[in-house]
Order: sequence, then structure tokens, then C-alpha cells
Amino acid sequence: MKHLLKFLRLITTIFVLTSCNSKDTYKPIQGKWIKGTEQEKLQTIESQFRGFDKTMVEVGYRYQELYWAGQDENWDYANYQLQKINKAIKLGLQRRPKRAVSAENFLNYVIPEVKKSIKAKNKVDFDNNFKMMRTNCSSCHMAERVPSFTVQIPTDRQSPIRKE
Ligand code: HEC
Repeated sequence: MKHLLKFLRLITTIFVLTSCNSKDTYKPIQGKWIKGTEQEKLQTIESQFRGFDKTMVEVGYRYQELYWAGQDENWDYANYQLQKINKAIKLGLQRRPKRAVSAENFLNYVIPEVKKSIKAKNKVDFDNNFKMMRTNCSSCHMAERVPSFTVQIPTDRQSPIRKE
């Protein structure tokens, strides 16, 4: 019994010592190029995600795709692009929450209106709503102090996706 107690005490001591030791030598995992302290690594990842500019490059592309999908009356593809515009803006707002106020009308009114015309497969309504969307893109640019970014109706088509 005495031996057993001694043995248990020894095991406990070893355990305590090694756990302290591993704390002292703790090193954060390093990536191939994302390195540094936890804080530095988070900063690297966040800046690689970029801000609202990346969102807008995506939205600019999808806006054009949406337009041509509507011209083709390819409603499934139009719906897909509209959903992705919605998602891209929402994710962008997570990165840049200060822009949320300017995005409110766009998310709560503009996108649902365009969606209605896509659901109804109504090209006349779609064209009208698309024009309404265009002016709202530009008004957010005014509000967010990039007034020279005036959005127009697309004229040249680059998309490889076309209705046969
Ligand atoms: C929430 C406000 C907001 C809405 C809504 C918005 N934009 Fe923007 N857009 C911005 C801001 C802010 C910038 C500048 C980004 C920066 O400086 O990081 C920008 C920049 C852009 C750019 C330039 C991107 C680049 O870096 O090359 C394009 C293209 C663009 N927007 C298209 C659109 C289109 C098309 C729509 C509508 C479908 C739209 N935007 C709706 C806020 C908005």
C-alpha cells in the first residue's frame, strides 16, 4: 500500500512537471506563409480576404451575367446570379460592417424586386427592375464616397454562358 501511494505521487509529479513544461515550450502552428503569433496570423488572413473591393469585383461580374441571363430569359441562371450578388454583399458587409447602412435598401428592396420578376419570368418587369437596380448601385457608390463609379447597363457581352 505504501509503495502504491509513493508510485501514485511520483506519477502525479511527473504529470504536473510535463504539463508545465509543454506550456513553456508552446509554439503556435506555422503555415507555409501564414506565420507569426496568433494575432499576426489573423491579421494576415483578414487582409488576404480583402475588403469591399473584392466584393464589388464579384458583384460587377455577376451584375453583367444577370443582365444577359435576363436578355436570354434564362431564368434559372438569372436567379443563380442574383442569389450570388446577395451573398457576396452580405459576406462583404461582414468584413466591412460600416457599409451596412448604405446596403440596406439594396438588400431589402432592390434584390427582392428583381427576384420577383425572375420568378414571374417576366422580361418587361425584369428590364425595368434591372434599370432600378442600376441606379441603386450608383446611389450606394455616391453614399460610400466613390461617386465616379457610375454603373451603366451592360453593352458588350463576354459571358461564355448563353442560351442555345
Ligand atoms: C453597399 C454599397 C454598395 C452597393 C449596393 C454597390 N456598391 Fe459597388 N462599390 C461600393 C464601394 C464602397 C466600392 C469601392 C470599394 C473600395 O474602395 O474598397 C464599390 C466599387 C465597385 C466597383 C469597382 C470594383 C473594383 O475594385 O474594381 C464596381 C465594378 C462596382 N462597385 C459595381 C457595383 C454594381 C454593379 C452594383 C450593383 C449591382 C454595386 N456596385 C452595388 C459600394 C457599393
